[in-house]
Amino acid sequence: MPKWLNDAVFYEIYPQSFYDSNGDGIGDINGITEKLDYVKGLGCNAIWLNPVYDSPFMDAGYDVRNYKQVAARYGTNEDLVNLFNEAHKKGIKILLDLVPGHTSDTHPWFIEAKKAAKSEYSNRYIFTKSVWDAPPEYRMMCGICERNGNYMVNYFSSQPALNYGFYNITHPEWQLPCDHPDCLATVEAIKDIMRFWLDKGADGFRVDMADSLVKNDDEKIATAKIWRGVRDMLDAEYPEAAMVSEWCSPDRAIVNAGFHMDFYLDHQGNGYNTLFRSGEWGDKAVFNPNGKGNVKAFADEYLPAYERSKGCGYISFMTNNHDMPRVTAYLDKQAIKLVNAFIFTMPGVPFLYYGDEIGMRYQSDLVSKEGGFSRTGSRTPMQWNSGKNLGFSTGDEPYLPVDKNSDAPTVENQQNDEDSIYKVVTDMISLRHKYDDLKGNGELEFVYEDGKIPFFYKRGNLVMFFNPLGKESVINTNYNGEKIYELGCTEFSDGKVKMAPQSFVMIKV
Ligand code: NOJ
Repeated sequence: MPKWLNDAVFYEIYPQSFYDSNGDGIGDINGITEKLDYVKGLGCNAIWLNPVYDSPFMDAGYDVRNYKQVAARYGTNEDLVNLFNEAHKKGIKILLDLVPGHTSDTHPWFIEAKKAAKSEYSNRYIFTKSVWDAPPEYRMMCGICERNGNYMVNYFSSQPALNYGFYNITHPEWQLPCDHPDCLATVEAIKDIMRFWLDKGADGFRVDMADSLVKNDDEKIATAKIWRGVRDMLDAEYPEAAMVSEWCSPDRAIVNAGFHMDFYLDHQGNGYNTLFRSGEWGDKAVFNPNGKGNVKAFADEYLPAYERSKGCGYISFMTNNHDMPRVTAYLDKQAIKLVNAFIFTMPGVPFLYYGDEIGMRYQSDLVSKEGGFSRTGSRTPMQWNSGKNLGFSTGDEPYLPVDKNSDAPTVENQQNDEDSIYKVVTDMISLRHKYDDLKGNGELEFVYEDGKIPFFYKRGNLVMFFNPLGKESVINTNYNGEKIYELGCTEFSDGKVKMAPQSFVMIKV
């Protein structure tokens, strides 16, 4: 297990929207390199970079055409290596985004695979035996290749599924077992891509749809086995490299498959939404001041998973990512401050999505860009200052429009505001680095009652009390001690803490 993860705080960068260094309207790798001091100033010591590879951008780069080539619009492979080197000088690690489940339908492997003539790529994707064979239980593209067969897609229609085989074989005429040499070759091809970038200085990967490899693998047994093999490779050849999975099932991802970290998201019906987004626009979220949420739903789901995966890897809370509406769409400013106090004081390895530190808004009225659809509103350009395109680009046509509101938050105005979300985010990250108890593998004792929203948790000698409600609340507790950080007024006396509406306090006992 790479030791650096215990104190890691990640910053997710959506490259096309972060900083445009050459005025063409699109964010680029050199722009990220220029902003490394900003990332460091946040207290983040690691970056997850969304895909930067050559792509036709039907899904914002999650449709890879060449895994070993940086997309021209972002720069060159040399620029990326330079980013690795400059980041390392500042103590920042960089994780690339690995997309192992599918490629673009313009990837050379797929262009070969869809030809009638057989080649070494004929089984790289999942084709049926004939175009008349299209079982409805699979998502197939039918009748559009020279080859007599239909192919399975993994996500959008432009993303054919790579072939790692089937665990339960229901159509032996076209489904291969996982140990078929052509399926093993797919695994080797992915490992080859990983080695390519690790050798150039990448520090690991965020793994897209990590659970999607083997088909008809309901319990994810064969998929986990593949990742366990990848982890063995990392342990042997790149022991400092780390992988975080988009799987959202710590038992499977961390305990079985060997991922160092697994994102805490809502995909598998877990407690993420319960905290921040549950109900119609968050009206049942724990952090909504209306009090309709229930922290028990989160705790009952998270705590057992945390206990089982503890010691094997980290569950990763995130402020948001490029696939979900920003939390500003759901919660008010004070609630968002509490959300950040929570995310950066829980165990695991936290992730901050670019722009969340300044409370960037979700732009709900945008036309879809590059397969973003409703996600487009969370992918708008970073807001740096009051200049042209809010400092994102000197070009006339930015990748997406910047927030047009006169009170759009920017780094510049948030950094000069003592009452800003930026202040809370940076304060919390700096406390996390300061106190060992707050780090990834520090202990957690979570205290809550069914139906009650005020709750608290203890991590070593630190205790965090939360009152997300819009009314004053009292928590019974025998803990008392030095106040380390406070949002809103809190008073300790007679075995109780009286908390102002929407308040938080961290004490040292
Ligand atoms: C998850 C990624 O986060 C998302 O942006 C992408 O569209 C899909 N996987 C497909 O790769």
